[in-house]
Amino acid sequence: MGVVISKTFGVPFTITVKTGDRKGAGTDANVVIALCDEEGRRSNDLYLDSLFRDDFESGGRDRFLKISGVVDFGTLSHIELWRDSKGLFDDWFCDVIEVINMKTKERHVFPVHRWIPANRKFKLRPFDMILPQRDEMLHLREEELKSKKELYKLTHNMAIPQVKSFPKDESFSNDYLWDLGKNMVTLTLKAKMTQVLTGKWKSLEDITKIYKPPLLPIPEKYYNWKTDKNFGYQRLAGCNPGMIRLCTEIPQRFAVTDKALQPLLGNMTIEEALVYKRLFIIDYEFLKDLSCSYGRTICAPTALFYLNDANCLMPVAIQLFPDPADNPVFYPTDPEYTWLLAKMYFNNADSAVHESASHLGFTHVVGEAIVVATHQCLSPSHPVFRLLAPHFLYLIAINNRAIGQLVSPGGYVDKTMVIGRTGMFEIIKRTWCNWRLDVQGSLIGDLEDRGVLDPEVLPNYHYRDDALLLWKAINDYCRVIISQYYDSAEQVVADPELQEWGRVLGGKATHPDEVTVNMKGVPNGGKFLKVEEVVDTVTNFMYICSVAHASVNFGQYDEYAYPPNYPAWLHGKPPTDKTPLTEKDIIAQLPGKEETLDAIVLTKILSSKGTNSLGDFEVQYIYDPDGLQALAKFRKDLEEVGRIIDKRNETREVKYTYLHPKDIPNSISI
Ligand SMILES: [Fe+2]
Repeated sequence: MGVVISKTFGVPFTITVKTGDRKGAGTDANVVIALCDEEGRRSNDLYLDSLFRDDFESGGRDRFLKISGVVDFGTLSHIELWRDSKGLFDDWFCDVIEVINMKTKERHVFPVHRWIPANRKFKLRPFDMILPQRDEMLHLREEELKSKKELYKLTHNMAIPQVKSFPKDESFSNDYLWDLGKNMVTLTLKAKMTQVLTGKWKSLEDITKIYKPPLLPIPEKYYNWKTDKNFGYQRLAGCNPGMIRLCTEIPQRFAVTDKALQPLLGNMTIEEALVYKRLFIIDYEFLKDLSCSYGRTICAPTALFYLNDANCLMPVAIQLFPDPADNPVFYPTDPEYTWLLAKMYFNNADSAVHESASHLGFTHVVGEAIVVATHQCLSPSHPVFRLLAPHFLYLIAINNRAIGQLVSPGGYVDKTMVIGRTGMFEIIKRTWCNWRLDVQGSLIGDLEDRGVLDPEVLPNYHYRDDALLLWKAINDYCRVIISQYYDSAEQVVADPELQEWGRVLGGKATHPDEVTVNMKGVPNGGKFLKVEEVVDTVTNFMYICSVAHASVNFGQYDEYAYPPNYPAWLHGKPPTDKTPLTEKDIIAQLPGKEETLDAIVLTKILSSKGTNSLGDFEVQYIYDPDGLQALAKFRKDLEEVGRIIDKRNETREVKYTYLHPKDIPNSISI
């Protein structure tokens, strides 16, 4: 720590400056600060410089002792901060400044969290968290937002808008330089998987020879992947757990019959099973005629499930394409391997929906659109910005890398998923047009819409049960912080930044060049009228960027790493009749050795956690005492959620761990 004592007079202050831990954050420029008190007294311009020390390095913390030049310095009201353009590397991202009055020992924290351009004076208040309509320095934040709007623009690369050009603020830190290609090579070498593998598998057991425990263990699913119980369980606690819905009627084109089903429904007729809410359905009709890369095709299946007397969800019928004239319904009573192949083709379609919609589209890309809209409209001084910011860490950066490396033409998705990038983008397009923030984007709205909110209706739905605990903890935290700032609906309506945020999220563009998110289900089409609407929106965004992503991300190795269990590609034709098939017929359709190796290594990397757990923020944005109290309560609530989940897992037949708070990162960083 360099300490320089100025040769002037007045009250001494210790000033500690933290430079951001990100690429290019450090500066060689001269940094100057001035301290202002509540009586309007201002210190001298205090040059922050240490002799014999390189200050303001990326991730560094520098402390200075400075004499203010004011004898009767009162309580600090704000600071002024600026820099010149000296040095080769003058850009500077300042995280936070702490000022301690050495006479009174009063401590003030000034969160900055901004790039400081040369020769622009910033005025910052302690805690820097205030609504714009109460901010005396409104013109400064308006000016700042104007330049943020230039940096953070949306464009239509795919159906959901994405950032137009990568803002440097979003780069990975020096410690977290994520590179998929490099990570795959490292893991392959570490696991000693260097033998050249080509050709097809000889048997289903043969595949197990490829795993290299402990780094790449045999996925648990290998041991029971063929069972109907596992197939039902995948709907409730697999990596795509948000698809199952209560069946209230059988679609016309789904040609199930009482004769075939009655023995599978404990002798109930279909009608009776519907009345008793024992039937559940997943209908992927929307995949019909999906254009895939290189003219490949995928099924558009419908599957029916029965909740049996042991409260297990069991598959009872699968039709692989919508047209019943050419497509039989397969039942568990059909020849063993024919039924197995029908289930595998259903899972093939489910995996396409999982990676395209549930994972990439509705967490990664929707998250990116939310990040961009937030930066465009909310000043870093806005409480909603400070609440959401920890959940945006590396989100755009990982999208930039992952979409670039995985979904590029001829890339991993083209090579290992039957839909390829063309099909992936098409699925996002077909699902985004029906996606609503208040339904699919809101846990409770989604569970209600699917008719599965009630545990009496669908027991053992571990994803729902654990997710609801987390949603409540997040909602309570958001409510406490947001209510501190908006004490009435009028304050919500009077907030120009919040209203602009609503418009960019869910409203109309104001000029032809503007791309807005165009998200359905934003309150009142993009106009916030009540405090609760703000609370729910922020809760949903925080949930999407943490819990929702965890629920579809961290089960990838468990599901995909043994391809027969959850095949991303089947190299053959789906069954069209009940001809008995053999194990050989199944093996002939499986991905080859090279593809399997890729799936194992990649899903292992994608299932690993690289950043901190929910609530343990990498960057602290909130410093005010009430906010810190709310944060402490949030962390306690999460600990309690963890205890409840541990307890639940003691009695669950299969442990469900993807939503344990310690395993949920704050943001989408993988
Ligand atoms: Fe992910």
